[in-house]
Amino acid sequence: VRPLILDCDPGHDDALAILLAVADPAVDLLAVTTVAGNQTVGKCTLNARRVLSLAGVTTVPVARGADRPLVRPLRIADDVHGGTGLDGPTFTDVPSVPESPSSAQELLVDVLRNPATIVATGALTNIARLLTEAPDAAANITEIVWMGGSTDRGNIAPLAEANAYVDPEAADVVVRSGIPFTMCGLNVTHQALVTDDVLARLARIGSPLAQVCGEWMTFFASTYRELFGFESPPLHDPVAVARVIDPAIVHCVEANLVVETEGRWTAGATVVDLDGYTGRPPNALVAVGLDRDAFWDRILDAVTTLSVC
Ligand code: BDR
Ligand code: CA
Repeated sequence: VRPLILDCDPGHDDALAILLAVADPAVDLLAVTTVAGNQTVGKCTLNARRVLSLAGVTTVPVARGADRPLVRPLRIADDVHGGTGLDGPTFTDVPSVPESPSSAQELLVDVLRNPATIVATGALTNIARLLTEAPDAAANITEIVWMGGSTDRGNIAPLAEANAYVDPEAADVVVRSGIPFTMCGLNVTHQALVTDDVLARLARIGSPLAQVCGEWMTFFASTYRELFGFESPPLHDPVAVARVIDPAIVHCVEANLVVETEGRWTAGATVVDLDGYTGRPPNALVAVGLDRDAFWDRILDAVTTLSVC
């Protein structure tokens, strides 16, 4: 069972990533840290607490991280995730899971007294800061698996995926750190589509949690249809969690990866040398394929497990 930290910006797909990470028996979720991205870090932190509260999980601390990228102004994705960052069902109560009194940096240092894998499903600001501010803790990161980037085009700029675009400087620092790094980009997450069949399977679970997940996915589908013309929305973030749970679900190849930070039109582009043009040695694993059936089985199993708790 792999010890895991989830660094995220919930976010509809982050919400499902949390549920998968907390429920799947192959990983032991030790902490959730939040970062500004899809929404302000305050809203993302509230959403992480909401997700864990709905799942009845009180044992995983939630700590607030960076409120802005390393050097750029924050660009939120309220067009995709709504004004709360997790639009769909409305809640009036305060989530029962509290915010940790520790900051994300403090919690990361604490948890990383022992080796752990980090799955990051937002901008890499918290991790980049940890590398510079707490190198001893960072030395205990076994691997970083990131939902971000793309081997081809972007989703917020022609050549940049949103998590890379929000904080390219952080992504650059983390990719160059030498810590084993896996990138699960849009080229693969666009295969994780929440189809009607998936929604029907979710509905059949029949629990309040499954109902809320269905409502989140319905909202997410509506913005993806409107903004990007997708018939079904791509559930990006759980792909990175699935890669840790069972590497066979997400097929990866070794490649050289660099993050563009200076391009006038291309900041946040993830340049993946799949064909060996540059002669630079591989420095990352890059996702190129998804076992869709196995992926959805794990997600639906997670929601089912949490529904009977
Ligand atoms: C990524 O951007 C965010 O909006 C999603 O949560 C996901 O992490 C996809 O580009
Ligand atoms: Ca995210």
